[in-house]
Amino acid sequence: MSSSSTEKNTGGESAGAHCAFLDIAADLANTAHPMVEPKTSEFMETLVSLCKRRGFIFQSSEIYGGLNGFWDYGPLGAELKRNIKDYWWRSMTQLREGVVGLDASIIMHPRVWEASGHTSTFSDLMVDCLLTKKRFRADQIEPQSGTAYFYTGATDAAAGKQSKDPFSALIGSDKHPEYARTVARQFYQQRGLNAPALEGERFEPVQNTTRYNPDNGSLLTEPRPFNLMLKTCVGPVESADNISYLRPETAQAIFVQFKNVLEVSRQKLPFGICQIGKAFRNEINPRNFTFRSREFEQMELEFFIRPDEAVEAVCGRVAKPAGPGHPGEPQPDWGWQLWHQYWVEERLRFYESIGLPRSSLVEYWQKPEELAHYARATVDVLYKFPFGKRGQNGELIGEELEGIAARSDFDLSQHQRFAARSMTVFDEELKAAWPKLDRAKQAELSERFFQHRLNYLLKVGETPGPAEKQARQDAETLAKGGYVPHVIEPSAGVDRLALALICDAYCLDQAPDDKGKLETRVVMRFHPRIAPIKAAVFPLLKNKPDLVRKAKEVRDLLRPHISVFYDEAGAIGRRYRRQDEAGTPFGITVDFETLGENGSELKDTVTLRDRDTMKQDRVRIADLVPLLTARIR
Ligand code: GAP
Repeated sequence: MSSSSTEKNTGGESAGAHCAFLDIAADLANTAHPMVEPKTSEFMETLVSLCKRRGFIFQSSEIYGGLNGFWDYGPLGAELKRNIKDYWWRSMTQLREGVVGLDASIIMHPRVWEASGHTSTFSDLMVDCLLTKKRFRADQIEPQSGTAYFYTGATDAAAGKQSKDPFSALIGSDKHPEYARTVARQFYQQRGLNAPALEGERFEPVQNTTRYNPDNGSLLTEPRPFNLMLKTCVGPVESADNISYLRPETAQAIFVQFKNVLEVSRQKLPFGICQIGKAFRNEINPRNFTFRSREFEQMELEFFIRPDEAVEAVCGRVAKPAGPGHPGEPQPDWGWQLWHQYWVEERLRFYESIGLPRSSLVEYWQKPEELAHYARATVDVLYKFPFGKRGQNGELIGEELEGIAARSDFDLSQHQRFAARSMTVFDEELKAAWPKLDRAKQAELSERFFQHRLNYLLKVGETPGPAEKQARQDAETLAKGGYVPHVIEPSAGVDRLALALICDAYCLDQAPDDKGKLETRVVMRFHPRIAPIKAAVFPLLKNKPDLVRKAKEVRDLLRPHISVFYDEAGAIGRRYRRQDEAGTPFGITVDFETLGENGSELKDTVTLRDRDTMKQDRVRIADLVPLLTARIR
């Protein structure tokens, strides 16, 4: 086949170069909330508007002013998300042994959330602005320095009114005190004093305080915990007895259904159960477009493994990580640390396989004080979004895409206690291996297992006597081959990944228009695996019935295999541009040579244009399906 290039790629800004643009510091959601901050990020504004214009993401309930923290995916966004989820599912289940799926309900028995710890501990500390009532997450307030003015109250003599509420405002050290007084007067006006005379003013310099609203200097309330679960009532009566929650994570359903799935799928440890589904969190401060939403989707795997004591009893040792990187094919002597490392590396490979370069990802090992109550170790996979935390030199250090946690046997043990249903599995290999161990080894493993179980039981509030008795029983069960499995959990967010892929795909370069003049083009360089539309088919001219008929034949040939878009409207260059913005990796043009006019030897061939290089190859129509499916899978 001959190859020709009709468009010239003059290069341009590479995918991911967005980082240079930015500093985001504000909510990007236009919402019904009265305190929307200004949009400060040029790049994110560009993306948000592209997402709306091209139908990737819309604000939820937009015609009513929007709802903060909720988003809708348009035609391209819906395809993108579906491709992400389908590929995750395929790579987690179909392309490997020993992982099966689950699709559980969003609302579960409220006791689930007591057992998991969400009812008591799933909260953020929040503070409210005393003036505007705007709510912040306490840990997101930037430390500020300046002069704090304090007031004991105010009076409105003409109206005969008084307020004894204390108030304080922070202003820059170089600012006139009148700034603080204006804020204070607004505070007392809200308390019904039309012309407040401030009382008891005093001031003092303060350093690095997080007690004031950075937007207006008003004092904030004391931090108090705010549970992030969204409540609802199940059944016709709205009462405290009927309160349920929209699940804040998909993981718990997997733990709750663990025994059922184990039974029906006839799996043996190690094995995994995965689930994709909606999760809900009443985030105090939804922000950064879809990054922190109140409704989002998770893709979670709970991978169940033997406790290390069982591995050692069966294999004679527990292999330890030899160094960083992928540890290779799973081995029977792997303990939780190697399994954890394995899943971190598998997940990094997954991100690379859908086009996120390793250089855009950061592997962050949580410090002991950052770990969740259930975790022994957690690695966050961060993507260098064009917003978020910065390092000492102002460089973006990345925001979380996924957490990979070693959750020990915490969750299954909690459901075992709360539901009084056994989560113990019996392991024939362990049962056979245990009697063959010498007494000293048996004693050592039993003691270690006992200590682990005792620590867990004491940590969750069991009293020492019963806890010791239970832990002793658990150690005896181990000797008979029984234990509660441990878990490694890779937990990723679909929406965050979609946003990362959109950020990474965005690129500006130069392309010729229909007259050959170079113009700037926006191109979304999605990996073909996740691109919303895989190929677009164009008849060169729409007023030539033979071209149109042939192009539709090509479209119909491809349709059963890949998502394909037919476009005959406008000049061919403009049609290319539209597909570049949608991120369609392949453009197929049916021209007069396709029809074999004038005895052309190129009859039944088309041009296949590559979105990124803009290079065009002539290919046989008969080769299109195998060629494209091979490049898309
Ligand atoms: N089962 C463990 C778990 O839920 P998590 O770190 O709280 O862990 C896992 O959540 C992933 O879910 C995060 O890495 C992120 O991708 C996504 N996620 C969490 N909260 C989110 C939010 N408010 N908006 C969008 N995605 C969120």
